[in-house]
Amino acid sequence: MCGIIGYVGYEDAVPIILDGLKKLEYRGYDSAGIAVMDDQGFSVVKQKGRLTALEELVRKSPIAGYMGIGHTRWATHGEPSDINSHPHLGSKNKIAIVHNGIIENFKQIKERLEQKGTVFVSQTDSEVIAQLAEHYYNGDIIDTVIRVTNALEGSYALGIMCIDEPGKLIAVKKDNPLIVGISDKGNFIASDVPAVLAHTNKVYYMNDKEIAVLTKDGVSFFNTDNEPIEKTPETITWSIDSAEKGGYEHFMLKEIMEQPRVLKDTINSALRSGENKNLLDSLDITRFNRIVITACGSAYNAGMVAKYVFERLCRISVDVELASEFRYKDPIIDENTLVILVSQSGETADTIAAMREAKSRGAYTLSIVNVIGSTIAKESDATLYTLAGPEIAVATTKAFSAQLVLLYILAVRFAHKLKRITDDQQEELLSEIAALPDKSYELFEHVDFIQKYASNCVGYKSIFFIGRNIDYAISMEGSLKLKEISYIHSEAYAGGELKHGTISLIEEGTLVVAISCSEKLYGKIYSNVEQVISRGARVLFIGNCIQAIPDDRLSIIEIPKVNELFSPSLSVIVLQLFSYYVAANKGLDIDKPRNLAKSVTVE
Ligand code: M6R
Repeated sequence: MCGIIGYVGYEDAVPIILDGLKKLEYRGYDSAGIAVMDDQGFSVVKQKGRLTALEELVRKSPIAGYMGIGHTRWATHGEPSDINSHPHLGSKNKIAIVHNGIIENFKQIKERLEQKGTVFVSQTDSEVIAQLAEHYYNGDIIDTVIRVTNALEGSYALGIMCIDEPGKLIAVKKDNPLIVGISDKGNFIASDVPAVLAHTNKVYYMNDKEIAVLTKDGVSFFNTDNEPIEKTPETITWSIDSAEKGGYEHFMLKEIMEQPRVLKDTINSALRSGENKNLLDSLDITRFNRIVITACGSAYNAGMVAKYVFERLCRISVDVELASEFRYKDPIIDENTLVILVSQSGETADTIAAMREAKSRGAYTLSIVNVIGSTIAKESDATLYTLAGPEIAVATTKAFSAQLVLLYILAVRFAHKLKRITDDQQEELLSEIAALPDKSYELFEHVDFIQKYASNCVGYKSIFFIGRNIDYAISMEGSLKLKEISYIHSEAYAGGELKHGTISLIEEGTLVVAISCSEKLYGKIYSNVEQVISRGARVLFIGNCIQAIPDDRLSIIEIPKVNELFSPSLSVIVLQLFSYYVAANKGLDIDKPRNLAKSVTVE
């Protein structure tokens, strides 16, 4: 996600902002920029690429000011480029802003302003904020910010400077983090505590729609009626290292906890407005007679889940292929085949090769990618973006969840275009998907239980995961997650396959994780659970339709009710937390598991 830092005070803002941006680098970025203000007006330096390049630019053409805003950008709307980097200024050069978040109605605002003569220079959603602020500005920046935020739909954390109100740094947020730091040498805004920790440990956490006005000598807060409000600062006792992780011990846990937000952003991008929605509206599925999903690792597991959803809703046969196998198997695809490539990084060598193979055979390639501007995003015929933000832990969690919801939405939209479901059915399915973020949040109630349960699992040499149909597909992801970070051998099995071999491995004390979110198949999986318990296994049973006879060896985690097709989005969070806490109890390097790389760019 983007990073914001701002300063107003008694020192030169430039080194403070550049240093703050370095402390936000961990959030991931593709471009960076800074705008400072002095008696002459704004000076802006911004460009695509690393912060070192920005520092070099500033060294060559020095700028200075008593107030400034800086930004690290992770592209969501508009490719990474100098012009799309922040800060953004309005056309009159009166207002400069930095933004973290997504403005869902930016197209409508842009069109309205263009009709009134405003000329936009970037492809970003963020530029509309600067342009709209200049449009509304009436001599009172607080009033202007209130009007602007009333007009915006979506999420934002904003740092704002206005040329006509020198010495005032304005901050406001909705659904994205923003803190205000206070010190004797001046005051700060930032996306996160590490950016200001070198200067102060006294911070205010801003609530949605509160407006902060910072001057060099103090901070005041206002509500949306422009009335002053009282806030109490907090004292931070974290080290820089733990502050980067938002106070969590590992990035993986932080990223697991971010999932309700990521699901919401990704779902909104596909259902409300933006490039994802435009693509979903315009894609013509009716010309394909076959769908192939190809990917690696967790992205492949997302494809396995999607197979059940597509086949159930669209009644089209879907093959899911490991990208590392695909190009060597002389695949049967042609111009009537839709090939869906799923990749967080967009740079996985095997998935790139599979995409090129599919294209060379005339198939239409649709990618689902997290990193804008990545090779797969650039080369595939069309791209849907997961709005997970940068994922730092090697083990994917939030990007996987974002892939799942885009695949569900794709399946529902295709089913409707193919006339397999009615308007009402489409509406109902999409509203069930839209309810997932809130339901996923409820799962965090189980954290204490999962943590305690996992602490008793560190001694296992092997753990089995079972499920049926879509629960089997998601159990594959549970198994992969566990093995990659805890180094415990694990296998996922379709429940019905146990008796064809694996059950011989079940003995006194073996752990089996069973998943059941399908009422129809509950009886089947429960009978598998009874079979393994009678052979001495312990079972962790995860589901939303469990009615089991109590047993000392059986522990149950109830998850919220949801259409079984979308239940993997909930069960996977429990599985991620389970794996995380097993690995944490073993004291392992969870964010960087041995022998693994975040992006596998070689075959
Ligand atoms: O960047 P990609 O999604 O293409 O990466 C694919 C796999 O390498 C990745 O999912 C890997 O399995 C993760 N470590 C799983 O957590």
